[in-house]
Amino acid sequence: MNGIFVTFEGIEGCGKSTQLSLLANWLSGSGLEVVVTREPGGTAIGERIRSILQTGDGSSIFSARTEILLFEASRAQHVEEKILPALETGKIVLCDRFFDSTVVYQGSARQIEADTVKFLNAFASHGCSPDMTIFIDIGVATSFKRIAARNGSRDRIELENELFFSKVRDGYLDLVRGDGRFFAVDGNVDAETVHAQIRDEFTKRFFKN
Ligand SMILES: Nc1ncnc2c1ncn2[C@@H]1O[C@H](COP(=O)(O)OP(=O)(O)OP(=O)(O)O)[C@@H](O)[C@H]1O
Ligand SMILES: [Mg+2]
Repeated sequence: MNGIFVTFEGIEGCGKSTQLSLLANWLSGSGLEVVVTREPGGTAIGERIRSILQTGDGSSIFSARTEILLFEASRAQHVEEKILPALETGKIVLCDRFFDSTVVYQGSARQIEADTVKFLNAFASHGCSPDMTIFIDIGVATSFKRIAARNGSRDRIELENELFFSKVRDGYLDLVRGDGRFFAVDGNVDAETVHAQIRDEFTKRFFKN
C-alpha cells in the first residue's frame, strides 16, 4: 500500500469538514491525487446507511447495538470499495471521521463495551488504519454555538444533550493521549491558523525524510 490515509476527528462543529477541504485543496494544488470521503457514507450503499443513521424512521428509538452495526456496515463497504483501492494506487485519502468516532460515540458515550467496539472496528476496517488522525479540539459550549449558527436542522445525533458530547470529547482526549498517530490541534483559533498547523504537521510526517 503506497498511499497515505488521513482521518479527521472531533465533536460536531470543531471544523473537520472545513479543515479537510483546506488540506485537500492544498494537496491537490501541489499536483497530488487526493480522494475526499466521509463516514458514515463514502459509497452509494454507505450513503443510504448514513441517511438511516441521521434520521432513523422518525418514530422508533435506535438500539445502541443496531446503531454501531450500521456504522460498521457502512465502514466495511467503504474500506473495501473505496479506501483500500485508492491507497493501493498511491492516492492520498482524506476521510471525515473513521473508526475513532465509533470508539468515542458508541464506546465512551453510548457505553458499548470497549472490547466489542475494538473487535467490530477491526472487522469492518480490514486492518486498514489511518497513517495520521487529525483531532480538532473545541469545548462543548463552542460546539453547540456553532451548530446553532449553522443553517438547517439538527440531525439525530446532534440532538443529543450536552452530557453526551462531554463524554464524546473526554473519550477523544483519552484516546489521543500518548498515541503518535494523532495530531491534536486547538480548534478555537481561526480556520486558516488551524490549517497552517495541519499543513506543517503533514509536511513533517510525510514529505520530509
Ligand atoms: N476555526 C474556526 N473558527 C470559527 N468557526 C469555524 C472554524 N472552523 C469552522 N468553523 C465554522 O464552524 C461551523 C462548523 O464547521 P465544520 O462544518 O467544518 O465542522 P465539522 O467538524 O465538520 O462539523 P460536523 O461534525 O457537524 O460535520 C461552520 O459554520 C464553520 O464555518
Ligand atoms: Mg462536517
